[in-house]
Amino acid sequence: MKENKKKVYLKYWGCQMNVRDSEVICGLLKKEGYGLVNEPDKADIILLNTCSVREHAEDKVWSEIGRIGKLSPLDFVQKTHKIKTGETPRPTNKIVGLVGCMAQAYKQKVFDRAPNVNFVVGPSDIDKIPGIINRLSTTKIRETEGTIRPEDIYHTGFYEKRNNTYVVVSEGCSNYCSYCVVPYVRGDLKNRNHKDIIREVEEAVGKGITKITLLGQNVNAYLSKVISSQPSVNFIELLKLVNQIEGIEEFSFITSHPKDTSVELFRVMASLGKLKKSLHLPIQSGSDRILAMMNRGYTKKFYLELVTNYRKIVKDSVLSTDIIVGYPQETDKDFQETFDLVKDIEFDAAYIFKYSARPNTKAAELADDLPRAVKEKRHKIILDLQKGISKKKRC
Ligand code: 5AD
Ligand code: SF4
Repeated sequence: MKENKKKVYLKYWGCQMNVRDSEVICGLLKKEGYGLVNEPDKADIILLNTCSVREHAEDKVWSEIGRIGKLSPLDFVQKTHKIKTGETPRPTNKIVGLVGCMAQAYKQKVFDRAPNVNFVVGPSDIDKIPGIINRLSTTKIRETEGTIRPEDIYHTGFYEKRNNTYVVVSEGCSNYCSYCVVPYVRGDLKNRNHKDIIREVEEAVGKGITKITLLGQNVNAYLSKVISSQPSVNFIELLKLVNQIEGIEEFSFITSHPKDTSVELFRVMASLGKLKKSLHLPIQSGSDRILAMMNRGYTKKFYLELVTNYRKIVKDSVLSTDIIVGYPQETDKDFQETFDLVKDIEFDAAYIFKYSARPNTKAAELADDLPRAVKEKRHKIILDLQKGISKKKRC
C-alpha cells in the first residue's frame, strides 16, 4: 500500500453494476493509498459514478454537480457563483471526476455544461482513474476510449460489505433493445474468462464473504472469453462451477433476458443447492406489438411459457420483473395487455419505469408522443396493481 494523504468521496447512482464498479474504483484508489470519506466537504477528490439508463437518473447527477460546484476551486465557477448569489464560495481545492455511463454518453459536452468537472471517464476505463488523478493539475482530461477492462481491477481485495458481494461475469450488452442506452455507454457484451471469475469468487471467500451475486446485463448470454486452448464455458456450466466452491453458502444472478432463458437453466436452478431460487426476468411490456418495436426478441406467449416452466420446475421460487410504460405509440390497448399480464403472472416484485428517450437509441428516433400525464397515470395504475399483488403474497 502506498502513502497518500488525499481523501476521496465517491457517490454512485443506478444499477448493481454501478455498485460493484464503485467498489472496484475504491479498491484501486485504496491500493494507491487514498483514504475514503463519506462527505464531499472532507474530500480532496469527488467522484460521481453515474447512470444514464433513464433521464431522471441523469437529472439527479446534474443537480449534484451543481451542488459540488459551490465547493469547486475553479475561478470560473467562483465568479459565476458570486454573480449569481452575491456570496463568495469557500475556497477549496477539489478534483471532480464524472465517471460511468453519463461520462461515456456526453464525453466533452460534460465540460460545457459543468465547468467544475475536471475529468470524464467512461465505464470501460475505470482502471485509469488513479493515473488520471495523479496527473491532474488544471487540465481537463477526457479518457473515454472504450477499451477493455484489465482483469486485475477485480482483484484489489477491497469489499465494502463483509458478507456478500457482486462478481461481474460480463460487461456491456449486444442486444440493442430499442430504448436502451447500455450498448452505447458500456459497449458490446464482453465476457470474462470463467477461471478469472472463479478466482475472484475464491478470493472473496478468503475474505470471509459467503454470499455472491453474479452480475451482467444479460447473464444468460455468458460464454467465457477463451484464453489459449481452454474449452469455453457457458452460463449454466459457470453456475455449476460456482456451486462447487467451498465456503460459498448462497449465490444468485442478475439480470436474465427472456430470449436467452431456457428450461435447462430452470433444471439447473432446481438442482444446485447453493443457488437462490430467484429470477429477475424483465418483460418490459405485455403487448407483442410493443415488444417487437422494442426489439426484445420474444412474444408474450413465449414469456408466459417460461414463467409456467420456471414455477413448475423451481419450487418455492421468486420471480421479479421490469416494465416500461409510455413507450412511443403505446395505445390504451397495449397498456391494457401489460396490465392483464401483470395481473395474471403475479410477480413477487415489479419495477415500473416511465419511458424516457435516451441518446443514440433507436427509440429516440421516434416521437416521445405520450403526454407526461398519461405516462404518470399508467405508471401509477401498474404500481398500485403490483402493490396489491405483493401485499397479498406477503400474507
Ligand atoms: N426509459 C425507461 N426505462 C428504461 N429502462 C431502460 N431504458 C429505459 C428507458 N429509456 C428500464 C428497463 C430496464 C431497467 C433497468 O430500466 O425496464 O430493464
Ligand atoms: Fe439494455 Fe436490452 Fe441489453 Fe438489457 S438486454 S441492457 S435492456 S439492451
